[in-house]
Amino acid sequence: MKTVTLSTLQACKRAGETFSCLTAYDATFARAASDAGIEVLLVGDSLGMVLQGHDSTLPVTLDDICYHTRCVARGKGTSLLMVDLPFMSNASQERLLLDAGELMRAGAELVKVEGEAWMADGIRELTRRGVPVCAHLGLTPQSVYQFGGYKVQGREAERAEQIVADARTLVDAGASVILLECVPASLGRAVREAVSVPVIGIGAGPDVDGQILVMHDVLGVTHGRTPRFVKNFLAEASDIPGAFRRYHEDVKARRFPAEEHCF
Ligand code: KIV
Repeated sequence: MKTVTLSTLQACKRAGETFSCLTAYDATFARAASDAGIEVLLVGDSLGMVLQGHDSTLPVTLDDICYHTRCVARGKGTSLLMVDLPFMSNASQERLLLDAGELMRAGAELVKVEGEAWMADGIRELTRRGVPVCAHLGLTPQSVYQFGGYKVQGREAERAEQIVADARTLVDAGASVILLECVPASLGRAVREAVSVPVIGIGAGPDVDGQILVMHDVLGVTHGRTPRFVKNFLAEASDIPGAFRRYHEDVKARRFPAEEHCF
């Protein structure tokens, strides 16, 4: 398999092909996901919930993320490695740049940052320094207390238009990828059509360029309430590598997400 780069994702978008992404937190699962063909691995700050047992992503530190990034980097195979900037990395421009630098030194090839149009300056400074950025919009889990819970975003026309406008602004500032979480499928499609860069969705419907899920959800070990957009692929496979292959193949063939996984 050829090494996946940002150009690979761009080529998928141009050709109208989808690509699959999965969170990974260690070398062994990263290798299995990469061997299954999954194009992008994310060291997500969801590790605060699925590995550390917190209720949110807020307690995750830069050191936590760097540790798991180094682990995943050793097993990532040909997949592209995206890594989350933790809560408050965007507290100042200087902190953003220094934290992103630490992630890149640990092995990140693309950093993901939560925020809306106000993140444009930060994204401009990162890309100017050679750090490719994925801008995370919609339900941004680091703002869970502001949202009052993990709620679908962009159901109202005004908020939906705002999310499309924010995506355009962040791409103009240099974002190489947009990630959209928990929005109506119609908004997923609108964002994909509005920007020239690949759009990855989680609970954003089928009409985006790539799909991402949290690894634990794919393996059916979700703790607590299972979100609507999640599917247990291990239920249809005989082992974990088989579940990863099934997820990848279903995304590529646009069998996932199905109607029942969408808002
Ligand atoms: O941290 C994470 O796992 C994420 C995904 C939900 C996209 O940001």
